[in-house]
Amino acid sequence: MCGIIGYIGKKHNVTDVLITGLKALEYRGYDSVGIALWNEDMFKLIKSAGKISHLEDKIRKEGNMTSQMGIGHTRWATHGEPNDTNSHPHRVGNVTLVHNGIIENYQELKEELIKKGYHFASDTDTEVIASLLDDIKKNKENYLEILQELTTRLRGSYALGIVFDQDKNHLYALRKDSPLILGIGDKENFIASDIPAIIPYTKQYILLEAGEIARLSEDGIDLFDTSLKPISKKIQQVNWTMEQAEKGGYSHFMLKEIMEEERVLKDTILPFVKDKETLLSKMPDLKKYDQVHIVACGSAMHAGLVGKYLIETYANIPVTVEVASEYRYKKNFYTDHTLVILVSQSGETADTIAALRLAKESKVDTLAIVNVYGSTIARESDQVLYIYAGPEIAVATTKAYTLQVAMLSLVALTMAINHKQMKEEEITMLLEAFQNLPEILGGLLEKQESYFEIAKMLDGSEDVFFLGRGVDYALAMEGSLKLKEISYIHSEAYQAGELKHGTISLIEKNTPVIALVTDEKLAEKTISNIKEVKARGAKVILVTLESLDRDYDFCDQKIVLPVVPPFVQPILVMPPLQLLSFEVARRRGCDIDKPRNLAKSVTVE
Ligand code: AGP
Repeated sequence: MCGIIGYIGKKHNVTDVLITGLKALEYRGYDSVGIALWNEDMFKLIKSAGKISHLEDKIRKEGNMTSQMGIGHTRWATHGEPNDTNSHPHRVGNVTLVHNGIIENYQELKEELIKKGYHFASDTDTEVIASLLDDIKKNKENYLEILQELTTRLRGSYALGIVFDQDKNHLYALRKDSPLILGIGDKENFIASDIPAIIPYTKQYILLEAGEIARLSEDGIDLFDTSLKPISKKIQQVNWTMEQAEKGGYSHFMLKEIMEEERVLKDTILPFVKDKETLLSKMPDLKKYDQVHIVACGSAMHAGLVGKYLIETYANIPVTVEVASEYRYKKNFYTDHTLVILVSQSGETADTIAALRLAKESKVDTLAIVNVYGSTIARESDQVLYIYAGPEIAVATTKAYTLQVAMLSLVALTMAINHKQMKEEEITMLLEAFQNLPEILGGLLEKQESYFEIAKMLDGSEDVFFLGRGVDYALAMEGSLKLKEISYIHSEAYQAGELKHGTISLIEKNTPVIALVTDEKLAEKTISNIKEVKARGAKVILVTLESLDRDYDFCDQKIVLPVVPPFVQPILVMPPLQLLSFEVARRRGCDIDKPRNLAKSVTVE
């Protein structure tokens, strides 16, 4: 998704601040980039398709300019192809701005403005916003009133950084649905789409809420509500360090983030699992719910599938898991005892936000499981359970997925206790299992070289199948997505018992099949299915438990997991598959941290 950075002040070189910030936002995915700079007498606008390095080349050619304010933007194309003209900042008259989001009524606004004599150089909705502001400004002088009127005209999502040439002492910002934070410095202030962009300069920030307007000067930040009444807001403190947001010596962010899983699992679950009283005091009261909807996208939805299995199996409560982009348009069935759980690493995924708002319109209780503090989904849900993955920079989620599964496991345990579905001794045993889990996971991660060795078996593969039954199928879906999104190998996950109903026709000599058998109750059945594909020439990587490990003749490679109580076993399955996928992608020379076409947070529909 697009990235925004803005700076006002004289303590740092403005161009350096903008470029540093844009590089910190690269993980959001982009295909063009630009900056605008102001000083007392001059204005400079430099834009480029492609990477930030191309923009830096252009800046060098243009020659640096001492400035006191600037805005920058990495664009992930939504309207119009990635090129210099469509990239931001956009300037109309003496209004210049950067935008993250989608204006749903931009076409009608554009037609209205064309009738007023405006011409458009780009295909973007953003240029329409700049033109609209220029038009509003003709009848108003107060910039806050101009921005207030703008908010009444726009429909859709936006985070905006705006500069009016006649007011070079201020940088304006406002948002609705797209993320934007305000960094607070000493004689300098910032706007940014995300925290990593400002960490080198300040760890103090404010979360701008929808409809609020911010006016930044080098001396401070003034905030106004939708009626332009001055407001004050809590100053947040970043609890990340720069090195946490850097690679920490690893070759890729993704590898660093996988190797952090032991620590972040500890950070996330240990505060809950000291004993039953602690768990129940920290978890929401889930007694009243007799049905659960889990709504999310991508990997977060796959985590939801594991949550469904655990809640249904151990709490005896029915659960539906829906992809948010479907949930928001389908008929949903609620009772007074329905709980909708939204799972989202970024807390800014547009479809998941829409699903959350739909549930709230239906007066249904909502619980969010998110990683980013103060994100939209966290702030708008009735209750929130944070995972503590820290910054997840690689576009492909790893540690956040693992923690989403872990947090959903704690929700399932809490529901089982609330609904009296579990004996005291089982509760005690499981809490102890949770306490021991991070160290066991750490032991798995130490075997990374063995998973890297297995990855060689997938050299040259163009199609890979993942098989599993029950919770293993839910895990197979994430294993398959992880492989394909970073290695670009086509892959699909299949219910083991379903393969023979058609798809087995695709199995031929040397077709790689990764088979998950971690549920002892279903092992025999799934092994029969594995033998079916083996008989047709497949190369099989078996993922199983030490307790199920035999000298099988149907697998070519094995990943053997330590045995823990079945309730917590799913948490251990994905990290080895994440490392396997990482190595496959590395061997294929892929851009692992920033896979083509992907964005870290899909803040548009
Ligand atoms: C990235 O690896 C995931 N594959 C992607 O599907 C992600 O899980 C999805 O976009 C949801 O993002 P969120 O968790 O930030 O809402």
